[in-house]
Amino acid sequence: RSQQSIKVLDKEHAIDDYTNIPTSINSRLQPEPRLPQTVSHPINLLCNQIHRSMPEFEVIKPPSPVVTVEDNFGSLGFPEDHPGRSPTDTYYINRSTCLRTHTSTHEVDTFSKGHTKWLLTADVFRRDEIDASHYPIFHQMEGACVYDLSEYEEGGRVKRECEEMEQRLKTSQIEIEDNVDIQEAGGYQPAHEQDPKKKVAAQLAMRHLKASLNNLVLDLFSERHAADVASEVAAGSTAEPLRVRWISASFPFTSPSFEIEVMFRGKWLEILGCGVVMERTLENAKVTNKLGWAFGLGLERIAMVLFQIPDIRLFWSQDPRFLSQFASPKSSNDKKEHESKTGVSSAGGASVPDKTTSPSKLPLITFKPYSRYPPCYKDVSFWLPTKSSTSNTPALHENDVFEVIRDIAGDLTEDVVLIDDFVHPKTQKQSKCFRINYRSMDRNLENEEVNQIHAKVTQRLVDDLKVELR
Ligand code: PHE
Repeated sequence: RSQQSIKVLDKEHAIDDYTNIPTSINSRLQPEPRLPQTVSHPINLLCNQIHRSMPEFEVIKPPSPVVTVEDNFGSLGFPEDHPGRSPTDTYYINRSTCLRTHTSTHEVDTFSKGHTKWLLTADVFRRDEIDASHYPIFHQMEGACVYDLSEYEEGGRVKRECEEMEQRLKTSQIEIEDNVDIQEAGGYQPAHEQDPKKKVAAQLAMRHLKASLNNLVLDLFSERHAADVASEVAAGSTAEPLRVRWISASFPFTSPSFEIEVMFRGKWLEILGCGVVMERTLENAKVTNKLGWAFGLGLERIAMVLFQIPDIRLFWSQDPRFLSQFASPKSSNDKKEHESKTGVSSAGGASVPDKTTSPSKLPLITFKPYSRYPPCYKDVSFWLPTKSSTSNTPALHENDVFEVIRDIAGDLTEDVVLIDDFVHPKTQKQSKCFRINYRSMDRNLENEEVNQIHAKVTQRLVDDLKVELR
């Protein structure tokens, strides 16, 4: 296998021992993500709402998903042994190039181009399990806001903006729980401790971050929440404000770091990660004398709860029974207007969602599931290859099994569950049994067809992963 290369988005790349991009992913790569640009698609509706909610933020065009490992991890301070870097979790083209695993990849570059308040939506790629909420391609939106150090001074713009945003929260039906210990959240980055002015600025940046994102949460959830509560009140319960809580988190490129959770339909839902941007990121971008914050949120996860979409595969469905549920009656007009203003057809997908033409509020749509086709369960049990005594990596990672299944069965797999896992007491050999649930979203699967797919999956597990079937 000498001198081999792989073609990704029309470019040849050398392959090496890290290369792990399956055809099922490679064939779906696009220079720009399609779903956020598709008028009335739920991802597009959600993006538009966030853009409207943060009107001062400039919308940045997403770069190619093929990125350097340095941009995705290194420049953001991910240590060499960070689990996110593992080829079991990340799609590598080779040791130095991968598919972005998050939109933070573009922070340094975007800051270095001089953008100070921006939003960037893109597709991201992760090797993961198979179930209703995990899909190897999903969408994130990154947002960031940095200000000159002088703007953090007494009488400056940052404090004024904080007060305005906090005032709105005070008069809204929102209950914010925030008992995070700053040290636990990473503390203010070391450089700030040395410079008291920077430390004060970092504290104010955190306040600005909190006020900004609490307002975003209010814009995204409060109407939906109120509508839900109203229907419950009719059924006899009492009204409740929207509850939001801040939790300490840890990211290599922000400090302090947080996660925000929203109480929605009786559950705490994690909606985004955020924090005060580390000085290193801004230094790498050659930005001096500025400080601020960033966040990253998963669009599918939020859209699934807001619109009650039960399966993440539905976002890719071309079925009119799905798409038509999100089209507003005037959306064909929106689309024409959108095209004439931007000069780009939405089918071409090159434009960013436009603030001026979209409806002013996120539509209160609840997805009504159409009848589902019957599931078809098949089990596969095997002995794992015996681990070599010299290597300390496991003989087989579950994500490798999921990848084989995805590569062959694609969107026909609804979920895969490990139903048995044991070690033989005498031989010490490890056995696993996975139950694969095959089900199409848009047609009936014949048992015969599923048998053939399952046979191929089984064969590939043997050929590629060297398992021994039981
Ligand atoms: N990139 C992080 C993730 O994917 C989210 C994040 C973005 C956190 C920006 C902090 C700041 O989980």
